[in-house]
Amino acid sequence: MTPSLRPIGIFDSGLGGLTVFNAVRRLLPRENLIYFGDTAHVPYGSKSAAAVTAYSLEIARFLRGKKIKLLIVACNTASALALDELRKNLDIPVIGVLEPGVRRAMAVSKTRRIGVIGTEATIKSGAYTRKIREIEPSAKVYGLACPLFVPLVEEGWWKHRVTRLVASEYLNRLRPAKIDTLILGCTHYPVIKETIARAAGAKVELIDSAETVAQEARELLNARGLARKTGKVKIKVYVSDDPARFALRAANLPAGRLGSVALKRFS
Ligand code: DGL
Repeated sequence: MTPSLRPIGIFDSGLGGLTVFNAVRRLLPRENLIYFGDTAHVPYGSKSAAAVTAYSLEIARFLRGKKIKLLIVACNTASALALDELRKNLDIPVIGVLEPGVRRAMAVSKTRRIGVIGTEATIKSGAYTRKIREIEPSAKVYGLACPLFVPLVEEGWWKHRVTRLVASEYLNRLRPAKIDTLILGCTHYPVIKETIARAAGAKVELIDSAETVAQEARELLNARGLARKTGKVKIKVYVSDDPARFALRAANLPAGRLGSVALKRFS
């Protein structure tokens, strides 16, 4: 198949990566996309680096078998823990979500006091702090793990009062840091962005890397002559467990029509 006609592969542990999928779909409307939600293993954020790397490699191999031309790791946890391994093992370009988010945050922050919220594994990895300090060694970075957010999003409790309460509990911990910019360091979090914004306070700018990731994908495809410009678009969605549950939840997200959700179990 002509390389430009091949699909883009996008994966996450569950629903969160659909925030990136949606941005890619809007910015690159002619691309065929394959989304993989690893619902058998969600949440990734409480797993070890070895486990997340093994899951990510398995998904990447499956997607590579579907002849993808680009892999977007639409998961901060997998981007923080497994990106190098994925790049080493694949013969196609791989884009993660950390760097685009960091670049955007550095473009926006005036005080250089930056908060990062994410899963336990992402925050513990220190990957965000390292990347921010590479750009600006004197930046102050305040990381906070928010492990209850992913299950609340997967549960569909996006506007629920419990989610509001949890958000204010978490975000109050960042108040003393006086941040002006907050990176949503998990692709599930944009789903509850309004709630997080309210809890963070009006003076804090929220960074959702989905748009920046989509722009990076577009630049990369154009630069390599891999962009698909015309033709009917095919979207395929796979999950590793319970497709019906995933389809039900995803239907309420602004990801566009997904069609049927197929099951792909790994033994
Ligand atoms: N949405 C993912 C992330 O960006 C994974 C969350 C999880 O499964 O814990 O980190």
